[in-house]
Amino acid sequence: MTNHLIVYYSWSGNTKKIAEEIQRLTGGDVFQIQPVKPYPKEYNQCTVQAKQEINAGYKPALKESVDNLAGYKTVFVGSPNWWSTIAPPVLTFLTEYDLTGKQVVPFCTHGGGGTARCFSDTAKLAVKSEILDGLSVSGSRAGTSKSEVENWIKKIGL
Ligand SMILES: Cc1cc2nc3c(=O)[nH]c(=O)nc-3n(C[C@H](O)[C@H](O)[C@H](O)COP(=O)(O)O)c2cc1C
Repeated sequence: MTNHLIVYYSWSGNTKKIAEEIQRLTGGDVFQIQPVKPYPKEYNQCTVQAKQEINAGYKPALKESVDNLAGYKTVFVGSPNWWSTIAPPVLTFLTEYDLTGKQVVPFCTHGGGGTARCFSDTAKLAVKSEILDGLSVSGSRAGTSKSEVENWIKKIGL
């Protein structure tokens, strides 16, 4: 598979591992979403800030922008499950970029809460895209998810 972009945000590295696995299996380009102002390194502080931002619908500014998004037919979009939804930097990405006519493939990692609203909220922000079945991986298994990622890629036909 060529012509696709793998976009992700990762605070503690789990979602990054899935993004890297997708890249290894499929090739494609990777874009790591980074907020201008990083989230607190301390877990509790991060959860408090994240909760406030999510409740307010806050969209943090991003450090870098994607080049030539128009050239990609398929965009994987990965996020950790934060308070049952996508992390605010992923909200910014999905709001700033027009994914009309593209295939959007969501993936997430979580701490036990599963997908929750991560994929449905992604779909709401990419209404003019074809949303493919997503992959949800427990964060603790992110480093050993090769076959899971492989089966999913096959299943969705990419
Ligand atoms: C701010 C914050 C909120 C979180 N909220 C949830 C949650 O609602 N449900 C859940 O299952 N895990 C939750 N987690 C755990 C993360 O989803 C999980 O550790 C994930 O694998 C982290 O991905 P990352 O390493 O790419 O940042 C939360 C973690 C953080 C930091």
